[in-house]
Amino acid sequence: MFEQISAAPADPILGLTEAFKSDTRSNKVNLGVGIYKDEAGQTPILATVKKAEAILLDNEKTKSYLSIEGNAAYGAAVQALLFGKDSDIVTAKRGRTAQAPGGTGALRVAAEFYASQLTNKKIWVSNPTWANHNNVFAAAGLEIAQYTYYNAETKDLDFDAMLSSLEGAVAGDLVLFHGCCHNPTGIDPTEAQWRQLAALSAEKGWLPLFDFAYQGFAKGIEEDATGLRIFAESNAELLVASSFSKNFGLYNERVGAFTLVAKDSEVAGTAFSQAKSLIRANYSNPPAHGAAVVTTILNDDALYAEWDKEVAEMRDRIQQMRDLFVATLKEKGVDRDFSFIARQNGMFSFSGLTKDQVAALKDEHGIYIVGSGRISVAGMTRDNMDQLCTAIAAVI
Ligand code: LMR
Repeated sequence: MFEQISAAPADPILGLTEAFKSDTRSNKVNLGVGIYKDEAGQTPILATVKKAEAILLDNEKTKSYLSIEGNAAYGAAVQALLFGKDSDIVTAKRGRTAQAPGGTGALRVAAEFYASQLTNKKIWVSNPTWANHNNVFAAAGLEIAQYTYYNAETKDLDFDAMLSSLEGAVAGDLVLFHGCCHNPTGIDPTEAQWRQLAALSAEKGWLPLFDFAYQGFAKGIEEDATGLRIFAESNAELLVASSFSKNFGLYNERVGAFTLVAKDSEVAGTAFSQAKSLIRANYSNPPAHGAAVVTTILNDDALYAEWDKEVAEMRDRIQQMRDLFVATLKEKGVDRDFSFIARQNGMFSFSGLTKDQVAALKDEHGIYIVGSGRISVAGMTRDNMDQLCTAIAAVI
């Protein structure tokens, strides 16, 4: 039977990692997938994660199942991180959170909840967006529409075009926003632009869905929640998919969360019961370990303060790499202006390199970046910078 099946295309991001692994060149560099590397090129386990794991090792009493929505303490900690602990969403219990296997798992819960429970079946995503968004939303049966986001000439957000393309989004449509560190462009709306978008969303009656995978990688843990919190002021209903892969370095533990916010606690509880049914029919109940680590850190003042510093270190190192990248390209005689890269947020840089240049970087120089021209700055180090910029100078 299986011989009638044709091969699926390689994933644009994780497929690249597979190709990288099988490349035998010793000087290869993987700047494809968004994984933080330290100055030594390693992806370290955070010190706070090790401390939390030691606490769990001593205190964990059982490996029995969690409930469908996971640990309640985790849900509360996630909501405080998203909205602030004094937010009306928290105090009036207008939010419900399900522990999910990674940000992708949370997005899939959100998409299936929307597809199965509400009338509209359309989601609006930015052009460009994270490649896997399209897979997740299509798999849930949603129709995908795009709104303009990036202006390739100015290398900036095209806010007017964004607003005019969103004119097509009608009441009940799901509209996806990247909480911060837009993937792949690294360009986020300003506070004033978030206010305008939030007001428009409330006026039009959209259902906002926030993909929040990089909290802490732009300006800071609290600062990066600005857009979401502005939306929450005027939009009584919204959905959030959180990921803790990057800001806790818990990539392979698959720690995420699906959060539903409604106008009051009763409506939230009823709507959330449907999300629980969907989860039961999918992965039944979530994996425990990574979320227990996150909860332990978030609920301990000293660990929280130390974690905040660890996130700042990652954020600062990436910013240093952005500045060094721009300076080194100049040094290599590249006359194209790459200064926009220093203004982008988060792990990624949308370089403007063409598909052919990306292919030449891989084939001729062993440097792997995503086909869209997205470079993971988080994978740059002082050691690979010279090779990288020499190669870029050669291909352009
Ligand atoms: C990325 O965009 O590289 C990360 O979010 C990892 C992934 O799953 O694609």
